[in-house]
Parts: sequence; C-alpha cells; structure tokens
Amino acid sequence: MRAHSESARAAGRRVALVPTMGALHAGHMSLVDYARANCDELVVSIFVNPLQFDRSDDLEAYPRTWEEDSALCAGHGVDVIYAPTAPAMYPEGFCSKISVAGLSEGLCGAHRPGHFDGVTTVVAKLFGAVAPHLAVFGEKDYQQLKVIQRMARDLDMGLEVIGRPTLREADGLALSSRNVHLSPEERANALCLRRALDQARALAAGGESDAAAIKDVAVQEINQTPGARLEYAEVVDAEDLTPLASLDGPARMALAVWLGSTRLIDNDALN
Ligand code: PAJ
Repeated sequence: MRAHSESARAAGRRVALVPTMGALHAGHMSLVDYARANCDELVVSIFVNPLQFDRSDDLEAYPRTWEEDSALCAGHGVDVIYAPTAPAMYPEGFCSKISVAGLSEGLCGAHRPGHFDGVTTVVAKLFGAVAPHLAVFGEKDYQQLKVIQRMARDLDMGLEVIGRPTLREADGLALSSRNVHLSPEERANALCLRRALDQARALAAGGESDAAAIKDVAVQEINQTPGARLEYAEVVDAEDLTPLASLDGPARMALAVWLGSTRLIDNDALN
C-alpha cells in the first residue's frame, strides 16, 4: 500500500483515503463520492478493527460483505481497496497505542472503554500506510471525527481531515451498518432518535437556550418510545465536545440509544 501511494505522490497525484469497516452503504458512498471529486488517487480501506470493539459479540456479529463492497467501490471509481488482515495490522508483540485525552472521554467514550484508543490507533496506522493528502469521515460519528481531527493536528500528520454530513433514510433514520440487526419493530422505534433531535432543534430554534430544557425534550421522546433504552443524551460544544449549560456558541446534541441488543448513535447541530 505504501509503495503504491508513494509512487502516486511522486507522480504529483493527490491521494485521498476513506476509512471504513466495510458493509458499505450509501452513507459510506457519499464520502467516497466527495473524495473522488477531490483527489486523483482514491483509496478506501476496509478493516473491521478488533481494537475498537468493547464487546466480542458485536465484533463477531459485525456484517462482512466483501463481494458487495468491492462491486460498490468499482462502481464509484475507487482506485484501491486496502483491506489488511488483523494479524498484518497487529502482529505478535504489537503494543503501541494512540490516545486523545479530553475529547475522547465523554459521550461514547464514557460508555465504551478503550473504543477511541482503538479508533485512533488504527486510523493512525491507516494514515501511515496510505499516506493520504486528504481523509474523509462522516459527521454520523461526530465525536470520532473531532478526535481524529485533533490527533492529526497534534501529531503533525500532515493531511487534511474532512467531515461530511450524515446521510439518512427517507424517514430520517441515519444509515448505519448496524441497522441490519434491527427487527421490523425495532426499525420503526429507531425513529425516536431523529424525533428527539428534531424536537431539540425546534426548541433551540424557538429561542430556548437552557441546555437542560433542550436535553429534557429529547430524553422524554426516547423514554416514551417502546423498546428504546437511552444510554446518553448530551448537549455539547460543537468543537471541544464539553457539556454545555446554555447555547452560547455552536452546540450539538448527541444521542446513544439501545433498541434491543443494537446500539444506535445520532447527532445534529442545535444552532
Ligand atoms: P464505519 O462505521 O464503517 O464508518 C466509516 C465512515 O463512514 C465513518 O467516517 C462514518 O462516520 C461514516 N458514516 C457512517 N454512516 C454514515 C452516514 N449515514 N452518513 C455519512 N457518513 C457515514 O467509523 C468507522 O467505520 C471506524 O471507526 C473507522 C473510522 C473505519 C476506524 O476503524
């Protein structure tokens, strides 16, 4: 991978990377299309990263759809799929990790021990192997995006990390590889995330600036949905992700909700 990328760079080509864990859907492909329009050599990585899973059942159940993924990539003009094996990424004796303090500790970080260290470690390795000028991530995983932008800046990784908007189904559910695990009933109830975000946004748009009041409408919406169990709902600063008491600057609402044994996350801007 590195040799390929170095020769592309030497030829003056701009290299872009879209990191994924496969089971590609239209949300992933929106990142791919953006990257395609902004580079010469387009690399998609597919690697289900064991380091970032805090539950082994989640890792085992993670969908793996290589045939469909490679066909989708071919159809969207991807030049290279980089799909290393786990032993190649983490050979015996592997013992390094990258940790981004602060940003990775709240929200999902508080509920998934070690998750973001696993993400930053693998993404640093992918950046090292692919040496991209540009890497594209989704706002669907907003905390992940902010953590990776911080890592790239702090460690002088010398690339641009771009965030792109969340792609949704027509009814508002954010596309996610984990949606395949939802039963029809859970799929219907999963719309409570979008409804909670919409109510929070409407309240903020109406002039409410008290974060607790905004959080309350979202929590109520989740709590009144059958089968939905709230993990967290937070109103945070859109840049440093610290919890806010009032909406003075750019703010974001972030949610994690369980539907049965499936954990879904979503977020949106409040102003
Ligand atoms: P994965 O969940 O496969 O997501 C890959 C990229 O697609 C991430 O940047 C994610 O935010 C983005 N994405 C997912 N759903 C989206 C949607 N509905 N709209 C727009 N973008 C969406 O995130 C990971 O993999 C991993 O943590 C990874 C960064 C690859 C490191 O292992």
